[in-house]
Amino acid sequence: MKAFTYERYGPPENLRMAEVDTPAPNAGEVLVKVLAASVNAADWHVLRGKPLFSRATLGLLRPKHQILGVDVAGQVAAVGGDVTGVTAGDEVYANLLDHGYGGFAEYVAVPVGVLASKPANLSFEEAAAVPMAATTALQGLGRHGDLQPGQQVLINGATGGVGSFAVQLAKASGAEVTGVTSTGNLELVRSLGADHVVDYTTTDFTRGGRRYDLILDTVGNQSVPELRRALAAGGKAAVTGFTSVAGLLGVSLRGGKDVVQVQAHVSSEDLELLSQLIEAGKLRPRIDRRYRFAEIPAAIAYLEQGHARAKVVVAMT
Ligand SMILES: NC(=O)c1ccc[n+]([C@@H]2O[C@H](COP(=O)([O-])OP(=O)(O)OC[C@H]3O[C@@H](n4cnc5c(N)ncnc54)[C@H](OP(=O)(O)O)[C@@H]3O)[C@@H](O)[C@H]2O)c1
Repeated sequence: MKAFTYERYGPPENLRMAEVDTPAPNAGEVLVKVLAASVNAADWHVLRGKPLFSRATLGLLRPKHQILGVDVAGQVAAVGGDVTGVTAGDEVYANLLDHGYGGFAEYVAVPVGVLASKPANLSFEEAAAVPMAATTALQGLGRHGDLQPGQQVLINGATGGVGSFAVQLAKASGAEVTGVTSTGNLELVRSLGADHVVDYTTTDFTRGGRRYDLILDTVGNQSVPELRRALAAGGKAAVTGFTSVAGLLGVSLRGGKDVVQVQAHVSSEDLELLSQLIEAGKLRPRIDRRYRFAEIPAAIAYLEQGHARAKVVVAMT
């Protein structure tokens, strides 16, 4: 099969289209013919081996996982042993972050615990946009953050992959939602359902005087004291992103029950919950750019600039 592979940490130009063996599904796995994938920040972090300390798990000198790609949507081509409830031909979507990546390829073996039926009302490209970003938003808001109806919720980075789902999820839960973005994206944030918008080019939300019950910071450009300043009494902040290693460590060292770092892990149960919300019309992926399989390095380079308007997807055919 064809796959994009890389052997050295570095820029997207290090990726090469290569012929590799098609994986065989092990027990508990299915082989998925990948029809669409989406690009995530994880892809460019792992491609570059950054932050450097992440190489302790990614491979000290050379990358352990030579095929990137965590989000896929496609059709089940073969079923491994001990698999029930999934059969060849099923249309599925999945996430491979905790299972060795491998989505930027024609086929990938996927454990059944991280896949679900593709939402019936989405194309394969739209479905591939969902798993990583929407699960991170769901877990950041709901598990780390304890999202409740009527809360004042702020999403920093409201137009990114995670943020664009977070605005919709918070709104669907009955919260009053504020989205932080740049001037050109204010309308997009309103169209996602935000009640209020903050333009970060003119206003620092941590100094505006308004207090929030829940902050999902997908950018990671605020310190723990700054986040605390914007929290209402008893409020919580969940941080998914980081702009510096010091910032990342700051949340781990200076955070606590009120300010936590999110570590998202995709599961079939959460994908099924997201499918229900999508099929009920409460959640819809927004697609910024569509690329073809051969253009995956360009798709990663675009996302790495940090200004994608929601999701960047790849059609594999
Ligand atoms: N912890 C986890 O489990 C987990 C899982 C998934 C993702 N993440 C991390 O979460 C972060 C966000 O992921 P993503 O997929 O949403 O990234 P993304 O799609 O690349 O985010 C891009 C968005 O960030 C916005 N942005 C950039 N600077 C901003 C600022 N100063 N204030 C407000 N918004 C700003 C941009 O809006 P403008 O164009 O308007 O600037 C753009 O829409 C990444 O760091 C990623 O590594 C963590």
